[in-house]
Amino acid sequence: MRSHRDFLTIHDFAKPELDGLFALAAAMKSGRYTKRPLAGKTLAMIFSKSSTRTRVSFEVGAWQLGAYSLFLSPRDLQLGRGEPIADTARVLSRMCDGIMIRTFAHDEVDEFARAADIPVINGLTDAHHPCQIMADLLTVNESLGSYEGKRIAWIGDGNNMANSWLDAAARLGFELRLACPEGYDPDPRMLARAREHGQVLLTRDPLEAADGAHVVNTDVWASMGHEEEQKVRELAFTGYIVDDRLMARTAKGSIFLHCLPAHRGEEVAASVIDGPRSRVWDEAENRLHIQKAIMAALMGGEPLVA
Ligand code: CP
Ligand code: NVA
Repeated sequence: MRSHRDFLTIHDFAKPELDGLFALAAAMKSGRYTKRPLAGKTLAMIFSKSSTRTRVSFEVGAWQLGAYSLFLSPRDLQLGRGEPIADTARVLSRMCDGIMIRTFAHDEVDEFARAADIPVINGLTDAHHPCQIMADLLTVNESLGSYEGKRIAWIGDGNNMANSWLDAAARLGFELRLACPEGYDPDPRMLARAREHGQVLLTRDPLEAADGAHVVNTDVWASMGHEEEQKVRELAFTGYIVDDRLMARTAKGSIFLHCLPAHRGEEVAASVIDGPRSRVWDEAENRLHIQKAIMAALMGGEPLVA
């Protein structure tokens, strides 16, 4: 029996646990929470892909909770010269108290977590971006009161973000409408699982997904690792821009989210991302608060359920 929890996908957590993390993050953001549950601890952060928000939010968040953090790049680690993932996990487990990892194949993170004796947090894989969706839902709670009873629209690529939205819809029960071009659907297993437990619609029509939506969320058309497909994808995603015409179909008071980085004029019009419905800066800031809650619960002994 493992004595710790990992944060690899939203699917691994029950609704009361996810709600507990939102409550803890809100307490941290408001300043009501002043403890330093990670005092004297160390977080190792492995980044095989670029990052602005994830790196800064984990590093700053760890420091605010009392921990030291180590930025590790596979270019410098022996991992980059072929040392097995499992051996790296075992060694880091002997010296650190938690590991955040951002990489390509999700299987690598699963393998890493199986070998590690300390909590492992997924900072993005090709298949999932769970910390980002937790930050997005915290932003929805702040802006709209609650995610309960809301219709959330995903416009664009059926990528890691879309997959984690599916996991969240299945666990939390809000309505999720995804509009993805043919050939760019989310992972079929995660789609099937979400359809079993949640209200999920997959359409080719962005306006149908946006119709009456309380939240509209999009992302780049070519994720990290797919940059060479940019031109092909630009053609496939024609008509999938989130612009004022699409936002006009949404519910009164709707908000726009984007995990960033964004390409204005491509997946989102500047008038939307820089307009009054946009909550993207709150969303980026909320990475810090929700990840502090996750680290405090997994590495610092804070109870998961409030
Ligand atoms: N949204 C997000 O994960 O941003 P970074 O790639 O900058 O970490
Ligand atoms: N889907 C994007 C998210 C970046 C934060 C990517 O994987 O590149």
